[in-house]
Amino acid sequence: MTVIRGATTIAEDSPEEIRAAVRELLEQIESRNFLKREEVVSIVFSSTSDIHSFYPAKAAREAGFEGCSLFSAQEPDIEGGLRLCIRVMLFVEKNDAPHHVYLRGARVLRKDVAQKFNVAIDGPAGSGKSTIARLLARDYHILYLDTGAMYRACALAALRAGIDVADEAQVCVLMRDIPLNVVYRDGEQHTMLDGEDVSGQIRTPEVSMAASTVSRHMSVRMKMVEKQREIAGKMSCVLDGRDIGTFVLPDADFKFFLTASAEVRAKRRADEMTAKGYQVDFEKLKQEIAARDEQDSTREFAPLKRADDAVLIDTSDMTIEEVLRTIKSKMQEKI
Ligand code: DC
Repeated sequence: MTVIRGATTIAEDSPEEIRAAVRELLEQIESRNFLKREEVVSIVFSSTSDIHSFYPAKAAREAGFEGCSLFSAQEPDIEGGLRLCIRVMLFVEKNDAPHHVYLRGARVLRKDVAQKFNVAIDGPAGSGKSTIARLLARDYHILYLDTGAMYRACALAALRAGIDVADEAQVCVLMRDIPLNVVYRDGEQHTMLDGEDVSGQIRTPEVSMAASTVSRHMSVRMKMVEKQREIAGKMSCVLDGRDIGTFVLPDADFKFFLTASAEVRAKRRADEMTAKGYQVDFEKLKQEIAARDEQDSTREFAPLKRADDAVLIDTSDMTIEEVLRTIKSKMQEKI
């Protein structure tokens, strides 16, 4: 079951206005959600107390919504609230992410559709954050920014240049004008180093550990954080990383911190790598993840840490769908 919300306004309290507004609102909800009439279980309307002349539920019945239950109620007055406003909630037999519809100035009711918003997802390696961030961005039709890929690209550049990744002075010189860029093709992030797509090459265990090491350096972090804030400042996006909620975007609209047991995280990484055709030594992988966790959470500057206002989700025993559903419902609660 999914709940789709919407709202619209009318110019005056007349039956004609209410009929036309309700019909338009429901039609828009149907088309934007690819909804079939038989999937609608019930529709609940509420309207502001200045609407008396006709029931929105009756308008829906007249508009052809015959097989579902309908209900109308009146809202108490809210100081500063919209006038002549009709809100709706549709309960539908569907499991897709809902597209809420706000028409005729009612848009201001919805913070997430009315303005740009950012979602911060932090957590250790293998907690599921990149999978979830990607799906969330897809469902909300917004950008997914994988900040780990940026640190990985810095590490790859250092390794290629033969620089000791632990040596801040050397890395700092390299950072001055690192030709690092992220571009998007068909909604997928591609990490570019001097025009070369290195998205695949940055995923090796060697680069993973080197990324954790270069990301300790303040000069690297400041450079990457500047790019991340620039992107997040321009558009709605989901960012995943280690310090998004604490440092990159402390005012992010929604913050989550994903975690899972070390065993589960190592198993997920092992499965991921096996699927890509790599030979995996599970115990070694577990040790590498533990070493990375330790380094990421004990570094001095912007360590891996849950923001006080981030929702903590232990994904150890959850499926991807369950985590996604939990995150979406937490976001809905906040709206
Ligand atoms: O998320 P990932 O495994 O791709 O990240 C690789 C490394 O980059 C990670 O071990 C620590 C670092 N990192 C970071 O310090 N801050 C971020 N926001 C993202 C990643």
